[in-house]
Amino acid sequence: MSNLPEKIIPERMEILNTIDIKEVADNAQLFLGQAVQYQELMMMYDCAIKEIRTKLEVLNTELSVRYQRNPIEFISCRIKKPISIAKKLQKNDLPVSVESLERNLNDIAGVRVICSFIDDIYAVASMLTNQDDIKLIEEKDYIKAPKANGYRSLHLIIETPVYFSDQKRLVRVEVQIRTIAMDFWASLEHQVNYKKTVSNEEEIMEELRECAETIAATDQRMLEIRNKINADSSRPLEADTNAFSRLQKMKLSI
Ligand code: GTP
Ligand code: MG
Repeated sequence: MSNLPEKIIPERMEILNTIDIKEVADNAQLFLGQAVQYQELMMMYDCAIKEIRTKLEVLNTELSVRYQRNPIEFISCRIKKPISIAKKLQKNDLPVSVESLERNLNDIAGVRVICSFIDDIYAVASMLTNQDDIKLIEEKDYIKAPKANGYRSLHLIIETPVYFSDQKRLVRVEVQIRTIAMDFWASLEHQVNYKKTVSNEEEIMEELRECAETIAATDQRMLEIRNKINADSSRPLEADTNAFSRLQKMKLSI
C-alpha cells in the first residue's frame, strides 16, 4: 500500500473512471477459465500419447520375445505447441479457442514410429488398429501414393479411450509410421520448409525428389535381401523370423 501515490493525478483519475472494472474482471475470469480448460485438454492428449506408446511398446516386446525381431526401431512423441495450434486454426479460418482445437484438430497429439522395413510399417499399423479399443478415423498412405515432393510415410488418425478418475475420454492421436530412411529424408526436407529463404530452392527440391526415389528403391531392396536371408529356415532363429513374416501376412489380411 505504501507504493500508492499520495495524490492521484487528475488525468490518471480520468482514465480510471473510463475503465469498467466488471468487464476487466469478466475478461480475466474468461481467460483463466480458458487457460484451465486448455491445460486439462493438453493433459488428456499427453495421456493418450502414453496409451499409444505403451501399446506400441507392448507389441514390440512381444514380437522381440516370440520372433527375435524388433519391428519398431524407435518411437518419438510430441504435443503440438500453442503457437502452431493457433496458426493452424487461423490458416483454416477456424475460431482460435479451446473448443475449436478439440473439435477441429486431429494432430495435437503426435506419435512417430520408425521401423526398419516397409512391411513392418503395415504390420505395426494393422496390429494397432485391430485392437478393439482403437478406432481408425483416417488413413493416408503416402508410401503407396507419395507426395509430389517425394514424401513417404503412413499416417493414421486414431481415437483411443483414456480412463480418468471420473470419466472416460476418447482422444485423437496422429500416428506417422515410416522407415529409418524415410524419416532421415523427411527431417532434411522439413528444414527446407522451415528456412525463410533458401537459395537454389528449386534445385534442392529436385535433389530431394531424386533422393526420395533412391531411398524408396533401397528400402525395397533391403526388404528383399532380408526375405532372402530368412528364406533359409534351417536355423531356429531364422525359422522364428519366418513365423513373424507369416504373422505379418496374416494380420495384413484381416
Ligand atoms: P498438416 O496441415 O500439415 O497437418 O497437413 P494435413 O492435416 O493435410 O495432414 P498430412 O497427413 O498431409 O500431414 C501431417 C503431417 O505429416 C505434417 O504436419 C508433417 O509432420 C508431416 N508431413 C506431411 N507432408 C510432409 C512433407 O511433405 N514433408 C515433411 N517433412 N513432412 C510432411
Ligand atoms: Mg495434420
